[in-house]
Amino acid sequence: MKIGFGSDHAGIELKLQLMEHLSAQGHECTDYGNYDPNDRGDDYPLPGRRVAEAIREGEVEKGVLVCGTGLGISLAANKVPGIRACVCSEPYTASMAVRHNNCQIVSMGARVVGRDLAKMIVDTFFSCEFEGGRHEARVDMISGIERDYQKA
Ligand code: RB5
Repeated sequence: MKIGFGSDHAGIELKLQLMEHLSAQGHECTDYGNYDPNDRGDDYPLPGRRVAEAIREGEVEKGVLVCGTGLGISLAANKVPGIRACVCSEPYTASMAVRHNNCQIVSMGARVVGRDLAKMIVDTFFSCEFEGGRHEARVDMISGIERDYQKA
């Protein structure tokens, strides 16, 4: 699978570890920055947006985001219409994020989860599939909120 990665300065180290981990499984991993831990000009809204837009444009299928908490970078990604990014700090939520919410992006906090737990989270996220059915209607309702505000 083609996966886009993004982080701010706080998330670079974990992002690179996860890229290595998922590349070793055969995934095609692309880094959308931040590339330099000393670069504070590439704050979390920017890489969050870049990864979300790469999914929207079809450059990659899914994304992994990392900042200090996973929060800011996921909030930014979720502003891109059609994108569903969730913060996960354990595998159960990562599983449900795909199976029920059809999220394309998993976001994590490098100051919250350790490397091995983060690997379990991404392994779970990328091994699950959306269940559709009643969940499809609910996810469509989320898109409906976006459509309502785009009309306004
Ligand atoms: C940066 O210090 C920190 O605020 C950021 O990485 C993230 O946690 C924001 O949500």
